[in-house]
Amino acid sequence: MKEFKIEGGHKLTGTIKISGAKNAALALIPAALLTNKKVKIYNAPNISDIENIKEILRHLNVKMKEEKEYLEIDASNLINDAVPEEISKKLRASYYFMAALLGREKKVVMHFPGGCNIGKRPIDQTLKGFVGLGAKINEINDCYTITADKLIGSKIYLDIPSVGATINTLIASVLAEGTTIIENVAKEPEIVNVAQLLNNMGAKIKGAGTSRIEIEGVKELHEGEVTVIPDRIEAGTYIIAGALVGENLKIENIIPKHIEALIEKLKEMEIKTVLNENSIIVSANPNMKPTNITTKVYPGFPTDLQQPIVALLSVCKGCSMVEETIYENRFNNVEYLNKLGANIKINNRKLIIEGTDGLYGTEVEATDLRAGACLLLASLYAEGTTTIKNADYILRGYENITQKLKNVGAKIELEEYNKVGI
Ligand code: EPZ
Repeated sequence: MKEFKIEGGHKLTGTIKISGAKNAALALIPAALLTNKKVKIYNAPNISDIENIKEILRHLNVKMKEEKEYLEIDASNLINDAVPEEISKKLRASYYFMAALLGREKKVVMHFPGGCNIGKRPIDQTLKGFVGLGAKINEINDCYTITADKLIGSKIYLDIPSVGATINTLIASVLAEGTTIIENVAKEPEIVNVAQLLNNMGAKIKGAGTSRIEIEGVKELHEGEVTVIPDRIEAGTYIIAGALVGENLKIENIIPKHIEALIEKLKEMEIKTVLNENSIIVSANPNMKPTNITTKVYPGFPTDLQQPIVALLSVCKGCSMVEETIYENRFNNVEYLNKLGANIKINNRKLIIEGTDGLYGTEVEATDLRAGACLLLASLYAEGTTTIKNADYILRGYENITQKLKNVGAKIELEEYNKVGI
């Protein structure tokens, strides 16, 4: 197991370059299996979730060429073997292989996916999309066998604008016969990135990024390539670090539109920001103003930045409120933030945050990816040294985070420790 040791109280100044988006790359890689030709994915982040996805590719006998700038995928000799539970359980994104293998082979055998412990996270909407295309679902002890004689385009209405269900239905529909209309879809930028790759491979997709996507099925896809968009959640996390302890901290390689909700909130809080075309400069403001935040689907305030921004609100004088409307269990960071000296109360899906004068280093534990990010941000601000156990959670989604923070003045080390006992 790994742990972070962080000595807080150091100003961060300099430049952090944002990497490719985890939640785009994790969908682009499975989407590449829809062709036997080669697909190049530029700017995929070097994070543990991507390594886990590559484990599934190897299991399926998919060839990979890993160059510095791109990952080349060759599925010409794919073997459609059941994906072992121990691999698919490692991350939520493994279920994108359900869509890719169903779309390509008309059959897939895979267990219920993994993912951070932030709620029940059912996959009913993904299954609704597959059934809408003519697939049959057989589930025994959480193992799904999904088959179709053929996939036929149809109109599918999602009950909720689920990111995963949108991407899964999109991937499964591009080789279906006829036209598919998916209504009430999610509009996240990562979905647009996936549609971009599929269209580059010869798919006919219109409307990605809106609440209605239309796909005209094609017989086959050819070679293609795509550049993974910058990670808006990584960017938001470092922007919040700048709001906490930044002195002209520059975050570059961003798409401002993708983090508009955060930037607007920071303006409301009177955090000093200078926004350029693909970068932002942030400085801390000790007199920042409290605010209220409600998480929403894109383009609303992203749920993945809810836990990180609570670190900022916990040291912002006055009372702030946060409401988490996407997940039912995304406050696991609060007990550890309070252990660092924060004053936060949980009321169902709401947080009442009384800003405190200071946070004080101690030992805390990451319980999921963004909870870990929250604690890391808080420890950069806290007086003294903080140890964050289960740092592996954080490494799932933040490429080269130790070096990126060291480069701008943070005192941070990543160490190994042996989990004794259990
Ligand atoms: C993606 O998860 C992201 N993960 C999540 O990021 C992100 O929080 C989420 O989208 C929302 O933006 C990846 O892209 C790998 P959803 P996903 O389907 O697709 C419920 C991170 O930190 N729901 O939009 O699983 C679900 O329980 C991760 O990087 C159903 O009820 O999100 C949740 O409450 C965490 N039925 C809500 O909808 C379904 O069939 C949003 O889920 C699907 C979802």
